[in-house]
Amino acid sequence: MDLTTDATRPSHTAVTLPLNSNQPLCTIQIDGTIVDAVPGERLIDALNRDAIARNRKDVPQVCYHPRLGPIQTCDTCMVEIDGKLARACGATVAEGMKVVTESSAASAAQREAFDRILGNHLLYCTVCDNNNGNCTVHNTTALLDIEHQAIPYREKPYDKDMSNPFYRYDPDQCILCGRCVEACQNVQVNETLSIRWEDEHPRVLWDGGHEIGGSSCVSCGHCITVCPCNALMEKSMLGHAGYFTGLPAAALEGMIDIVKAVEPEIGYGPILQLSETESAMREARVKKTKTVCTYCGVGCSFDIWTKDRHILKVEPSEGAANNISTCVKGKFGWDYVNSPDRLTKPLIREGETFREASWEEALDLVARRLNEIKAQHGPDAIGYISSSKCTNEESYLMQKLARAVGGTNNIDNCSRYCQSPATQGLFRTVGYGGDSGSISDIAQSALVMIVGSNTAEAHPVLATRVKRAHKLNGQRLIVADLREHEMARRADIFFRPNPGTDMVWLSALSRYMFDNGLAKTEFLNQWVNDVDKYRASLEPFTMEYASKVCGVPLETLTRVAKEFAAAESACILWAMGVTQHCGGSDTSTAISNLLLVTGNYMRPGTGAYPLRGHNNVQGASDFGSMPAYFPGYEKVTDEEAFARYEQGWGVKLPTSKGLDNHEMVEAVHAGKLKAMYLVGEDMYSADSNANYVGDAFSKLDFFVVEDCFFTLTCRYADVVLPASPSLEKEGTFTSTERRVQRLYQVIEPLGESRPDWQIIQDVANRMGAHWNYTHPADIMHESAALAPLFAGITYDRIAGYKTLQWPVAVDGTDQPLLYTEKFNFPDGKARLYPLQWIEPCEVVSDEYDIHLNNGRMLEHFHEGNMTYRVPGIHEETPHGFVEISPETAGTLQLVTGQWVDVTSRHGELRTQVVVTERVSGKQAYMPLNRPKHPVNLLTGNNTDRATHTPAYKETPVKLKMLPWKGPDPLPPLNFRHGHPTPQRGVEVERKWQRADYRTPGRAGNGLVQIQNGQRKG
Ligand code: SF4
Ligand code: SF4
Ligand code: SF4
Ligand code: FES
Repeated sequence: MDLTTDATRPSHTAVTLPLNSNQPLCTIQIDGTIVDAVPGERLIDALNRDAIARNRKDVPQVCYHPRLGPIQTCDTCMVEIDGKLARACGATVAEGMKVVTESSAASAAQREAFDRILGNHLLYCTVCDNNNGNCTVHNTTALLDIEHQAIPYREKPYDKDMSNPFYRYDPDQCILCGRCVEACQNVQVNETLSIRWEDEHPRVLWDGGHEIGGSSCVSCGHCITVCPCNALMEKSMLGHAGYFTGLPAAALEGMIDIVKAVEPEIGYGPILQLSETESAMREARVKKTKTVCTYCGVGCSFDIWTKDRHILKVEPSEGAANNISTCVKGKFGWDYVNSPDRLTKPLIREGETFREASWEEALDLVARRLNEIKAQHGPDAIGYISSSKCTNEESYLMQKLARAVGGTNNIDNCSRYCQSPATQGLFRTVGYGGDSGSISDIAQSALVMIVGSNTAEAHPVLATRVKRAHKLNGQRLIVADLREHEMARRADIFFRPNPGTDMVWLSALSRYMFDNGLAKTEFLNQWVNDVDKYRASLEPFTMEYASKVCGVPLETLTRVAKEFAAAESACILWAMGVTQHCGGSDTSTAISNLLLVTGNYMRPGTGAYPLRGHNNVQGASDFGSMPAYFPGYEKVTDEEAFARYEQGWGVKLPTSKGLDNHEMVEAVHAGKLKAMYLVGEDMYSADSNANYVGDAFSKLDFFVVEDCFFTLTCRYADVVLPASPSLEKEGTFTSTERRVQRLYQVIEPLGESRPDWQIIQDVANRMGAHWNYTHPADIMHESAALAPLFAGITYDRIAGYKTLQWPVAVDGTDQPLLYTEKFNFPDGKARLYPLQWIEPCEVVSDEYDIHLNNGRMLEHFHEGNMTYRVPGIHEETPHGFVEISPETAGTLQLVTGQWVDVTSRHGELRTQVVVTERVSGKQAYMPLNRPKHPVNLLTGNNTDRATHTPAYKETPVKLKMLPWKGPDPLPPLNFRHGHPTPQRGVEVERKWQRADYRTPGRAGNGLVQIQNGQRKG
């Protein structure tokens, strides 16, 4: 029902109801007017809606933040409900409720509550970096027309805490609203913050009283984002945001003293006016631009505030995937754009060095050499590699360049290094290579199973939704991983299968379901093909067999099977721990098989979620940078699609089979591939067996690399083209949940760097094309016209924070839940896919006796080319290391900080040891970021059998102790040394129990105390 246009309703005040509201309505009275409301909703929400609809004065609400729910610490939202004072944020709407917001009792209570707040906060707005029009304390002072402060400001006996590289806490300005605590405990669920209400002078505490640096704080920034004043501030704002805030401290203090001296006489009115004028002036020079994060596939979006090229702060609020959430990279990881290391001019090789060149010269050279090599050796002698950090439009252009201009299907992107097996598993079973639902489905699922994914570090904001559901809503969590990471520690069941054996226990679970009558027969009958064939293929996969192969106790597997079968809804999340094996596609298939057998598709809260690593690893493949597919996953062998693209592009297209990344490297070694054009990928560091890949690059006749930095790969290039990172261009990214989102240009390209889409177009035109794209919107327009999957995507439909999740029909209808009416096969039915167990390609031996695993770290992105250039991140995590178990440490007599040589059958590197129980037995772990000596010096050439994704996770090594020991490579500042303090939230009840606490308002008016309790959602 359209609640805003329903003409049959009584003609009282129209209100804008929540768009997703389909509940029956009730009516309540607000200040004598009857309005619609939703029974059970928070009264404060109904009041806020009514205030907008009737242009009525807001009810003050300092601690309330819609994303946090009622905290009830500030008492400023006192209203009369049916004649009694109550906090509007703590009350819920009920039919017939009579609410008075401006009675003398309510007004006095609101005012008294706010006076107490001002006792904790010095108002010096004109010289405050938070005076940006959105300071809740400032705005409430104005709302309540405060002229003089009834309760004088009192300093607290604490210093400012400046120990975190990114933000500072000022206890003297902290109004103890507890928003930060609630955000940290129950949104980010890092559980670092608390307030000890029993203290004489309460303040916010990190790990119960540690300074911020070295506490468990992961610098996600949630607390700063929700802080209603300047108590928590990004350091990048300090001294930069205002016209006067950069003055020397002594001058600032002098100005604050003057304000305080005149306030008793003139009141706050003129002072606030002055600060509001200064705040308005800031609008002219502070630019706020919406962008999408480039650091992982979660797809967080936010506004970036800039003053010229200075990044003031990142402000998340409305992002479809993240709303107020970010992780350290999205919130603080952008200073690399101003790094002096940025490439700002094209470079051309001169012998063993490079010289700067003009764009004209560099582009001419690139086009000439590529055309020459094409003429001499044929179109298939050139390989094109697109970037999953670049935009959809850039991926589209790159594959068009390869096919329509280069005349080859040799086009790929780095999803080959991580996600292709997951896509393959989904192609085999359900038809589309994308997450089957949205992050909200994961959050609402009754049970989440995570296999081979360090979600809290690799997909941090998505992990927060799981952590919250698990903590507050009773969601069950099962984790299978080699390493006891944060999600494993939180899990209800955690087990460590032997490396590379996940496919076996997953298949055994499927068999268990059939054998014990737990398979969802009705669902299978209606929606799934090949059930009998699949069931027969499960014959070897008994639970006993799985227990033996996987090294997991039979009882554990049985418990997992029973929990999974009993769950009302279940999602499975997986990542590189599954895909980067020789059997990566098979394990991904086994996951989808299990979901089908248990009926966990086609409903909210269910489905398969391969968590996409790079920000646009989904989109790079979606938009055709794959040898076998046009954009939208139409096969290049599909005659109808082939003809459509030939006609659309007006060229003859290649029919030869294209090479993927892995095959390109092999083809260079075989002398068949002579040139490569590589965009936005440090392939030397990212591909497996770096030495082998480097050798291939040095054999190329011509090698073009386009990047923001001079990466290890650039060393092999003939021409290096300087590209602009995401903040300097426009386009779209597609997140892990198939969500297409626009990014807008935040700052100008640095130096002579250019957006990749412009460079690719320039190369194409010099090679003989006649492209004329003036904006990425033109490219999306063309792509939507050709690829049915994106038919309804237009830049208007995804303007600002609007998004679409593919497939998008011509009329713009998208599909947050992928399979609702059918699976993506001609008959609409899914397919159970029989599998055979094949052992990992490379296993430990007497010599190489330790299994080396690798993966991401929270604070670094991929190989670290960007994040090591963010000073704060570098400060927290400057070094690489190898984690070893206490058992290995004991055997080899190693301690944390000891230097070791790590040697595999493919290479070696030198690093320091961290001894930790995160890894067990003869297993070790290395973060994959390490700027000079990437872990891929150690990894080999084996690949997933179906997709050629390197088997990075099958790397046996040996360790040799070196006679040097240094300090812990994780400095004391690093959050891994912290000790969280989990609690239910702000625990305001403890504040109410203080002897000096008195509820504000007239005596005898009967305050209704509503305990915190509603945490759902
Ligand atoms: S983890 Fe740190 S930055 Fe994130 S909300 Fe908690 S205290 Fe704030
Ligand atoms: S630091 Fe926390 S408790 Fe203090 S004002 Fe900010 S959000 Fe409120
Ligand atoms: S890295 Fe991922 S989780 Fe972190 S802010 Fe960026 S998109 Fe969000
Ligand atoms: S808004 Fe703070 S108690 Fe209601």
